[in-house]
Amino acid sequence: QQADDYALMDACAKFFASQLRQHPDKQRVIDYLKGRGLSGQIVKDFEIGYAPDAWDTVMKQFGRHKDAQSQLLALKMITENDNGRRYDFFRDRIMFPIRDRRGRVVGFGGRVLDKGEPKYLNSPETRIFHKGRELYGFWQMKQAEQKIDSAVLVEGYMDVVALAQHGVTNAVASLGTAATTEHLQLLFRHTPLVICCFDGDRAGRDAAWRALENALPLLKDGIDMRFLFLPDGEDPDSLVQREGKQGFEEQLKQARPLTDYFFEHLLDTLDITTDAGKSRLVGTAKPLIGQVASDFYRDLLMNRLAQLLGRDPAQLDQLVPAPEKAKV
Ligand code: CTP
Ligand code: MN
Ligand code: MN
Ligand code: MN
Ligand code: MN
Repeated sequence: QQADDYALMDACAKFFASQLRQHPDKQRVIDYLKGRGLSGQIVKDFEIGYAPDAWDTVMKQFGRHKDAQSQLLALKMITENDNGRRYDFFRDRIMFPIRDRRGRVVGFGGRVLDKGEPKYLNSPETRIFHKGRELYGFWQMKQAEQKIDSAVLVEGYMDVVALAQHGVTNAVASLGTAATTEHLQLLFRHTPLVICCFDGDRAGRDAAWRALENALPLLKDGIDMRFLFLPDGEDPDSLVQREGKQGFEEQLKQARPLTDYFFEHLLDTLDITTDAGKSRLVGTAKPLIGQVASDFYRDLLMNRLAQLLGRDPAQLDQLVPAPEKAKV
């Protein structure tokens, strides 16, 4: 069953890739990819493809038999409406196959060619695809890098692909969700440094903070996480296309350490010149710091917290624990 699933997903990926070479509409798609600055080689390397503008391309290609149809349904390559009519899930989209850590295709991301909503459509969860576990580009990164000094965590498919084309082969993206503890665990098993490089917009900032929260329990001695926010309207894709690998890596050097970003974020919404602000900072920061695995990092964060409050670190440790249920 499972082996079959992987074989079918792989066949789908190969089929979408072949449409880029064969389909009557292919020129429009190729023009789009060229317009985005992608080379033929990188399209091949990431097996980027095209799901044609029809309701039944996958259905016809793979769903002739009843068993095959139920398998396509289970893998969410086709869906069924209320009337029981079955049709392709991805239509008229650029297809990005998502590979698991062993290189097997487990799902797809599909981008519209022009304007249209949603801009990206991802495979829903299936018996072989779990978004909280998979990182786009992870397998390619493992293929390209012997020893991974650092990994760059970005937001999008296009970021990973554009970076790889320009020789930055250590970028990965989570799939339309913030990085989970499981994602970060996987990364930290392969590299001591993860640099989050996100869009400077609301979505990017939220995703970065979520990643930080999820990383706290993993912060052991010797590992490190850094944060870089790009200016509005910029993302790793646009940056590397304009400035090349060197320019991008120059920017990466500006990434801030976790301990800086931690307090910057908290102070964004708090005014610690007031007692209320100070107490809120302690109330928010202490439980987060308490999750940190490394004594070293916990100490560092506690010292910074104390410094911000103009107190002795020992005093903060001794703060009387809150009553079980505080009455407001
Ligand atoms: N995303 C998604 N669904 C959307 C929008 C975004 O799943 N409707 C996810 C995709 O993984 C996408 C990432 O969030 O790659 C980042 O979104 P965004 O910055 O809007 O897109 P880009 O990757 O920059 O897309 P592009 O450059 O192709 O316009
Ligand atoms: Mn964005
Ligand atoms: Mn982009
Ligand atoms: Mn973006
Ligand atoms: Mn270029």
